[in-house]
Amino acid sequence: MPLLLRPYREQELVNLRGTGKGELKEWDRVYDYALYNDLGDPDKSPEDARPVLGNSVEFPYPRRGRTGRPPTKTDPNTESRLPPLVSLNIYVPRDERFGHLKMSDFLAWAIKSITQFVQPGLKSVLDPKDEYETFEETYKIYEGGIKLPKLNELSDIVPIELIKELLRTDGAGLYKFPTPQVIHDSKEAWRTDEEFAREMLSGVNPVIISLLKDFPPKSNLDPAEYGNQNSSISTQHIEKGLDGLSVREALAQNKLFILDHHDTLMPYLSRINSTKETKTYATRTLLFLNPDGTLKPLAIELSLPHQDGQRQGLVSKVFTPAKSGIENALWQLAKAYVTVNDSGVHQLISHFLKTHAVIEPFVIATHRRLSAVHPVHKLLSPHYRDTMNINALARQILINAGGILERTVFPGRYAMEMSAVVYRSWVFTEQGLPADLLKRGMAVEDST
Ligand SMILES: [Fe+2]
Repeated sequence: MPLLLRPYREQELVNLRGTGKGELKEWDRVYDYALYNDLGDPDKSPEDARPVLGNSVEFPYPRRGRTGRPPTKTDPNTESRLPPLVSLNIYVPRDERFGHLKMSDFLAWAIKSITQFVQPGLKSVLDPKDEYETFEETYKIYEGGIKLPKLNELSDIVPIELIKELLRTDGAGLYKFPTPQVIHDSKEAWRTDEEFAREMLSGVNPVIISLLKDFPPKSNLDPAEYGNQNSSISTQHIEKGLDGLSVREALAQNKLFILDHHDTLMPYLSRINSTKETKTYATRTLLFLNPDGTLKPLAIELSLPHQDGQRQGLVSKVFTPAKSGIENALWQLAKAYVTVNDSGVHQLISHFLKTHAVIEPFVIATHRRLSAVHPVHKLLSPHYRDTMNINALARQILINAGGILERTVFPGRYAMEMSAVVYRSWVFTEQGLPADLLKRGMAVEDST
């Protein structure tokens, strides 16, 4: 940097850091830090209050970009929310704002998410008692048979910008989506064990499955607080699926895998299941590695905490594959609970927390500390694109109290605080490859 320009670059960094005071406005370029304290709306009702995330050992969370709106009347630690009509006009530093094109991209994406992925939840948003009654109803998403909800019903939960975009698009075809390949030839194909296992690697959340090292699976929850949380899956449950191997041999040959959501869910299950909207189990799924490289589910354990509130430990039941009868129906249901756990963990933890939320402090720090001409700043910038704006919009309509995520992901109003508890064990250096694969016990070839 030529010496004469240096003071200007330094002054620019001072400007970007801001004063830490006051509400930030559309024209500001300030990158500052704040806690996740703007998700709840305690002025509306105690039900709409949410804990502050990021300032306690109990609920750690990455920092977000500061917006500086006034606190709520009810709770000085909670930042007030924007009124619904301007809710997409949330502050982010000016250089982080979407251009018009990107905004319409985002809106189109949001509509797709709401209608396709979140649509079952949208249905429950509009009428909490209304759920899918038959599989035929879900197939209608792909056959164009589900009617768009009335727009005035939508306006309570979806900002006006989205509604405008709904009007602009082809409303009639909105609920028609391409038929997923898996049900092209047979509408029952999604229910097979092969597809269930395939989705663990090729579906949305391949980042939790890991090599099983101990049998039966163990819990890392503190026994003093939670009692014995180890698995009750036994040799008898799984040995018939091991191609003639004993459990010990299968372990030694790295053929047993586990999709373990037990420790994530269990501390929150009593609270989650105390809500009217949602009931679930904590799940563990054991899988066998077939010679052709595919996976085969061996057993699913569904667990609940003891109901009396006093005794520690768990009540659990193990289900194994069955081709017919009641056993088959129960096996299908057990697989459905695994998928509920897995898709919820994907949305909340693997996706929002571990990609969107964790990167925001890096965006802020880079702009506050590194000149825009610094090579590291230049290298990092493309990776940061649109993150702050998307996260800000997410706080407005996705992860807020009563937002789309709470209404569609299993932990309901406890969604975000549960993800904060998971963040306690997040370690930066374990996030990349090959560290993540090694941590999950997957073999990695050493290319050095
Ligand atoms: Fe994303």
